[in-house]
Amino acid sequence: MELLYEGKGKQVFLTEDPDLVVFRFKDEATAFDGVKKESFGGKGEICATITEILMNLLEKGGVKTHFVKRISQNEMLVKRCTMLPIEVVVRNYSAGSIAKNLGLKEGIKFPFPIKDLFYKSDELHDPMLNDDRAVALGFLTFDDLDVLYKNALKVNEILSNFLLEKGIILADFKLEFGKFKDSILLADEITPDSMRLWDKDTLEPFDKDRFRFDLGDLLAGYRLFLEKITS
Ligand code: C5P
Repeated sequence: MELLYEGKGKQVFLTEDPDLVVFRFKDEATAFDGVKKESFGGKGEICATITEILMNLLEKGGVKTHFVKRISQNEMLVKRCTMLPIEVVVRNYSAGSIAKNLGLKEGIKFPFPIKDLFYKSDELHDPMLNDDRAVALGFLTFDDLDVLYKNALKVNEILSNFLLEKGIILADFKLEFGKFKDSILLADEITPDSMRLWDKDTLEPFDKDRFRFDLGDLLAGYRLFLEKITS
């Protein structure tokens, strides 16, 4: 297969069908713009499984995604999108960059989900955008932004409710979207690499913060999360 793109956590390959690509999850975990990096055997497979489960759940709930089907342990077939150079973050609880930048304690529940936009650029360390900046710089239109926000909030509702039933708090998460023909699809992955997931009772994290801040075995957290969402 011809490699189309390689990122920190994935490889994307062309297929014979121009509308479809293969998305392969790598075993590497990276943090702090790739400064911290480590390989965990089996991580790609766990992340593929989690993405498959959550993308299917979202599709059922009416969110259009790029997911087509799982084709191997660590690969899925997806629709080939033109990616928007934007990350949409939804925050239910204070943590990470918002806590650091605004001097907040972690774990404060916000009165409504906060939507943040970031420009995808490792060189610039993913600077924060706002609606006007994103549109004025030509990344997308205000109508596109509407679609992104509506979808991001829908994803938040579906995932928060589903996870809470499994004893997990969805503190925050990041989404990426791409254009496919005339529609905007939820793309990329949905894994503990891009979400903050806390045990409802102990607030213990299951997500990549374990790796970022040496809070415990990364894969054990991901496995526990997978067990909980499949039980
Ligand atoms: O870093 P920050 O606190 O803004 O991250 C918010 C959420 O978005 C976290 O769940 C984090 O894992 C995710 N994120 C991501 N990729 C980035 C930035 C943030 O997956 N480049």
